[in-house]
Amino acid sequence: MAQGAAVRADHDYDYSNFYYSSSDDLFAIFGPYDDWWYGSARNNGYYLFSQPMSTKPGPEINLEDQLTHEHRDMLNLASYNYLGLSYHPEVVAAAKSALDHYGLGAAGSPILSGTMDLHMTLEKELAAFKKKPAAMVFATGYSTNVGLLSALLRPGDWAIMDQNVHASIVDGVIMSKANARFFRHNQPGDLEKKLKGTTGKKLVIVEGVYSMDGDTARLPELVAIAKAAGARVMIDEAHSTFVYGDNGRGVAESFEMEDQIDIHVGTFSKALGGQGGYVAGSQGLYNYLMGFARSRVFSCALAPAVTAGVLAALRVAAREPELRTTLWNNVAHFRKLMSDAGVDVGESTSQIIPIMIRNDRKILGIAQKLQRAGLYLQPIIFPAVAKHRSRFRVSISATHTPEQLNRAAGILVETLRSEGIL
Ligand SMILES: Cc1ncc(COP(=O)(O)O)c(C=O)c1O
Repeated sequence: MAQGAAVRADHDYDYSNFYYSSSDDLFAIFGPYDDWWYGSARNNGYYLFSQPMSTKPGPEINLEDQLTHEHRDMLNLASYNYLGLSYHPEVVAAAKSALDHYGLGAAGSPILSGTMDLHMTLEKELAAFKKKPAAMVFATGYSTNVGLLSALLRPGDWAIMDQNVHASIVDGVIMSKANARFFRHNQPGDLEKKLKGTTGKKLVIVEGVYSMDGDTARLPELVAIAKAAGARVMIDEAHSTFVYGDNGRGVAESFEMEDQIDIHVGTFSKALGGQGGYVAGSQGLYNYLMGFARSRVFSCALAPAVTAGVLAALRVAAREPELRTTLWNNVAHFRKLMSDAGVDVGESTSQIIPIMIRNDRKILGIAQKLQRAGLYLQPIIFPAVAKHRSRFRVSISATHTPEQLNRAAGILVETLRSEGIL
């Protein structure tokens, strides 16, 4: 957008209108964006992002309305806390005790002074849980993918990704300067096409559960095609570790295909309710990343209290499969409520249930109405999903009660009906 151009006061803009500016002044890009933000976007619902929560991310929360500054109690279907472990008493006690013992931060990179005995214990127990020779812990899931991919891939290599992979995977591939191709979401035939003509080193990248659609990778077909082309395979199980598989090891476990996948990635920020990410695989992979994963080498290690909390959460998740059973019962319950009411949930089969709105203008107004009726659901719009594929993303947790899910579904269905979506 040209510097100083008037921004229309209606709602026709989204972030894609503000990527460029015609001025040579770097900061000229701020003005039109601010005009839109304060003149229109904020008042038309964009304020619904980054609303401060003043409670733990449980089934019932308190949020501050950024327009009126009212504090509102709401049912929460928006947090990733799939097993409720972020505030599990054992997890909180472990984090508190580590805080007393180690203090706040790790005070160093993991390859210098930032590795504590806690980090080593977490890596060892995680490798044992994932049944892999080694597992490496990173400070976030985002930095895991960026560090891993920029360490492994070189210019001239090939990364062939599902078109719906997370931004951290895309960013890692961009940073590596490898050749990149996307195959149509979950379509083995298109993966085969995209692998044609690639030579040299290849990595095919998929996710276990896709974070915006809640569907799972068609692993048997995709892995067979990747292997036939001589590619290595990576799976990001950010949303499926501790949720899928008889032992919670993820979608690869549920397909009994763990050994056919070369690199297993996951995060601690979803089902474990903590923070951080991991790569599990061979000892050679671990050793190489230790030297070359720049997002880890040049960044402070995971804070000790979080590391201890994640370790405790891992132990609870491994020890108590009934948490997963409760989660899946809740998912089935909510899914039935949605299908009885005729709500469009896309292709979801998991604990992530998109409520498809497909109207980028309307969804923010609906989100506001939902909140005022007592239901917290985040609108998901471009660039998190393609334009005109806007949706609310429901995250079900083992800690929701059937009564809370009934109430939430009631608010949702009534609001969608009043808005003409149903
Ligand atoms: C598939 C996937 N990978 C990585 C990440 C990044 O994880 P984190 O939020 O722990 O940094 C996410 C986050 O939502 C994700 O969905």
